[in-house]
Amino acid sequence: MAYSAAQLLVDTVDALSRRAPAIVAAAAHQLGEIVLALHFGDDSHAELTAEHSRLLARVHRSEQPDVEAYFDNRAMNLLFDLQRRPVDQTLPASLDVRGPRAQTLAVWRTFQLLSQRASGLRAIQAMWKAYRDQYPERWGSPATDGAVNEGDPAFPPPRGVRWRALDFLDQRHPEDQDLAPETVGGTINQDERTLWDNRVSTSWWQFSGATDADLLETMERCKERVQEEIRRIIPARDPGPHLYELMHTYPARRGKGLRPTLTLASCVAAGGRSEDAMRAAAAIELFHNGFLIHDDVADESTHRRGEETLHGTHGAGLAVNTGDGMNLLAVDTVLSNLDTLGLARTLGLIHEVMHMCRETIEGQALELGWIREGVVPPGDEDYFYMSTKKTGWYTAISPCRMGAVSAGVTDPVLLNQFNDAFRLIGIAFQIQDDVLNLVGETTLYGKEPLGDLLEGKRTVMLIHLFREADEATRQRLYANIRRLRAEKTQDDAEMILREMERFGSLTYAIDLADRLAHEGVRRFEEDLTFLPENEAKGVLRQIANYVTTRPL
Ligand code: IPE
Ligand code: IPE
Ligand code: MG
Ligand code: MG
Repeated sequence: MAYSAAQLLVDTVDALSRRAPAIVAAAAHQLGEIVLALHFGDDSHAELTAEHSRLLARVHRSEQPDVEAYFDNRAMNLLFDLQRRPVDQTLPASLDVRGPRAQTLAVWRTFQLLSQRASGLRAIQAMWKAYRDQYPERWGSPATDGAVNEGDPAFPPPRGVRWRALDFLDQRHPEDQDLAPETVGGTINQDERTLWDNRVSTSWWQFSGATDADLLETMERCKERVQEEIRRIIPARDPGPHLYELMHTYPARRGKGLRPTLTLASCVAAGGRSEDAMRAAAAIELFHNGFLIHDDVADESTHRRGEETLHGTHGAGLAVNTGDGMNLLAVDTVLSNLDTLGLARTLGLIHEVMHMCRETIEGQALELGWIREGVVPPGDEDYFYMSTKKTGWYTAISPCRMGAVSAGVTDPVLLNQFNDAFRLIGIAFQIQDDVLNLVGETTLYGKEPLGDLLEGKRTVMLIHLFREADEATRQRLYANIRRLRAEKTQDDAEMILREMERFGSLTYAIDLADRLAHEGVRRFEEDLTFLPENEAKGVLRQIANYVTTRPL
């Protein structure tokens, strides 16, 4: 089937959601309640709406849109030409948008955000280039007076006018450049910035505070660098198969690399080099892996990162011991900063690590204690308190603080500026994790679907359900969650899921996570003004928005 312009737009929004969630969130915020219909010169149609901080795009002809936008091919070019300033893009007749004035302006702003962002991302450029290569006749139509509706006699447009913005992909392979994290995170002149293809562009995106990093690429790169570091640290000696080889292979499993990315980005944002935080980032990832191995034993989980859990393949004894080994090695890794970072920063890092581990262990104890005693806490506040401890500190707050310490920020007042924003972001992250366990794409998520319901995890959905359910339902639910995991069946788990759906617990959780993340982003902008506006800070901002939109 022919690939339509509408499909290209849907795919673009999809990719942007994964690669630049902060921009999509800002665009979704602009779009608000508006139902936007898009009509393209190839007679394809798409609909764009916003839900929370997400944008939903689908190939579809809207029945009753609020605003309609008509894209002739010239408009498509304008939308994507990264050399142009928005003022040129929005010249009358370059893009035809029809609707009430206020809503039309909101649509302009949505498109400005999206197109400016898209034009800076290599992956999106590649996508649009492939489209252009497939349909060269569709590009470069001359200007027309106003809208070009479907059935436009000027379609297809004449050949010959080149779409220059994408030619850079042919001229220079992105891999040629040194894209190590420190260059990604380098400080950027406020008035000028180098694009990935080495051209300099003025910062017309400044109003959104966004910069040019592709979050997926950045996370991937940070993860690789940290894994390399971890491979170097793990001893290559006996006992291999029952310890060090397991320590090697486990962190190489498919993880997102969220924590090391936060650490490296926060170090660079605070004026350090990413190398300065490499050991701290490796230590956090080691702790994370150690915690996960132990957590899977505690939760009796069967799958992690798409594979069987370590205790499943090697037994609880070796798994627990490997987790201990990881945690010990993580401390050693932090200490190894002495030579390069000196005593003050290294001790600062040790202090951070001690606090982080204490929080995590206390949080785990709280949750496991609730399960053991058959307690379902009554309020969301209890959940916030527990999840901040078990997850928030080691996933969000401490990685940022440790990055800043590695850069030489030792003032507790400044370090504490990370706490409120990333506490909220950490809770939102955990809620999203729990939502994905119930409704996520299993192959991406890599853990046992509905596993949380089998283990009786006190998620915010379960807490909501117990609050909202009638007494009879609550009794049935209670009998269910009190059963030992080994005695539970898939039917038991599905019964809870059905009740969660009936009482709106999932919708409640998704909405709550979104509100928390939104508030976290607001605190981020307010509290972290001591960090200069640079690309690394942009990465932190992207992650703040990513936690609730991530599919894995
Ligand atoms: C999983 O964390 C554990 C939680 C705190 C919910 P991640 O989802 O970051 O795990 P990986 O590293 O990507 O597998
Ligand atoms: C996350 O535990 C916290 C730690 C691993 C310390 P969970 O039990 O909530 O996370 P998943 O669902 O197993 O990844
Ligand atoms: Mg678990
Ligand atoms: Mg757990």
